Amino acid sequence: MSYGLRIREQVDLRDLNTMAIAAKARQFADIETTDQLVQALDTAQEQQLKTLLLGGGSNLVFAGDFDGLVLHMALRGRCWEQVQGDSAVLVLAAGENWHDAVLYAARSGYRGLENLALIPGTAGAAPVQNIGAYGVELCDTLESVTALDCGSREVVTLSAEQCQFAYRDSFFKRNPGRYIILEIRLRLSRSAPLKLDYRDLQDYLGDVDAAKLTPLEVAEAVMAVRRRKLPDPETLPNTGSFFKNPVIDKAQFERLQERFPDLVFYPIADGVKLAAAWLIDHAGWKGFRNARVGIHNRQALVLVNHSQGDGADVLALAEDVRVSVRKEFGVELEVEPGIVGAS
Ligand code: EPU
Repeated sequence: MSYGLRIREQVDLRDLNTMAIAAKARQFADIETTDQLVQALDTAQEQQLKTLLLGGGSNLVFAGDFDGLVLHMALRGRCWEQVQGDSAVLVLAAGENWHDAVLYAARSGYRGLENLALIPGTAGAAPVQNIGAYGVELCDTLESVTALDCGSREVVTLSAEQCQFAYRDSFFKRNPGRYIILEIRLRLSRSAPLKLDYRDLQDYLGDVDAAKLTPLEVAEAVMAVRRRKLPDPETLPNTGSFFKNPVIDKAQFERLQERFPDLVFYPIADGVKLAAAWLIDHAGWKGFRNARVGIHNRQALVLVNHSQGDGADVLALAEDVRVSVRKEFGVELEVEPGIVGAS
C-alpha cells in the first residue's frame, strides 16, 4: 500500500531554505498525512537512509547536500477547540504557515501570538526552538504538542512541561529525530493583557493608549518594527538571528561592563544575558560583506546570503565572527540555526 507517498530523487532544496543555499536531497517526499509520514520513515529505515524533517527551512543551514530522505512537512489544517468564555485553544497542523496563523488568531480577536508576527517558518517548527520576539515566547501560550514517536511509530501528546522549553531551546531541539511534531495547541484569550514593554515596540507605538489597542494592531506594529530592522528572506536570504544571545555569569559580566559601560544586557535568573548583536556590532562586523555572504547592515545578529553563498561561505563567516567576539570580549557565541548535511 503506498498511501500516495511519492519519493523524488536529487531534489534541489534552494527554494526550500530561507538562506537560499543550493543543496540537493538524495531523496525527497512531501508529507501530507500521518500515514505518509510513517511510510516514509519505514522506507528510510529499510534503505538505511537518514531522514531530515523540513518545515519552512528558516532555521537551518545546509553545509552540503543531504545524503538521505528529506521529509517536507505539508500537513495542513487549523481549528478552534474548547471555546469557553474569553478563552480558546487554537489547533494548528505542523505544516501551517506560522505568520498566517498569527494573523488569523489576531483577526479573530484572540491575544497571545501578536508579538510573534512575521517570524518565518511553520507551526510545527515553532516549538523546536521555542520561537520568541518582543518579550513573548511560544511557550507562553503552548498547551500541548501532538507528535509521532519515531521509535514506536505511535502518535503521542506531550504537555508543555514535557517539551522542556527554555530560551530558543526545547526537548525536540536537544533530541533531534526522537519525535516529529504533527500538531500544536495554543491557549489564547480575548482578554489577556497585551505585552508592549519591549523597547522597540514602545518606541514605535509612542504614547498610544494601550487599553484601546487590538491584537491585530499590535501584530501590525511588530511587522513594521521587524521590517525596519530585519531583512526579508525573499529579497535578502537569511535565517534570522544566527547566534543565541549568550548567557554569562555575574562575575564575568561585571568585569566586562567595567570595560564596556554601554554593553546591552538583560539580567536573568542564572546570570546575565548579553545582546549578541551588540557584541558583533562592536567587534566591527555590522554591514561587513565579501563577494557572497555578509552581516546585515541594520541587525548585526543576522548573516545574509548576498549572492550564491553556500554553506561553507556562511559557516566560515560565522566562525570568523565567533573568533573575533571571543577575542574582543571573551564571550562564546552559540550558533542558533541547525547545521545540516555536514560531512
Ligand atoms: N544592537 C546593536 N547592534 C545591532 C542590533 C542590535 O548594538 O546591529 C543592540 C541594540 O542596542 C538592542 C540590542 O542589541 O538594544 C538587542 O537588539 P534587538 O532588540 O534587535 O534584539 P536581539 O536580542 O538582537 C532578539 C531575538 C530576535 C527577536 C528580537 C526582538 C535572539 C537570538 N534573537 O534579537 O529573534 O526578533 O530579539 O525580540 O534571541 C530570531 O530568533 O531569528 C530573531 C530574529
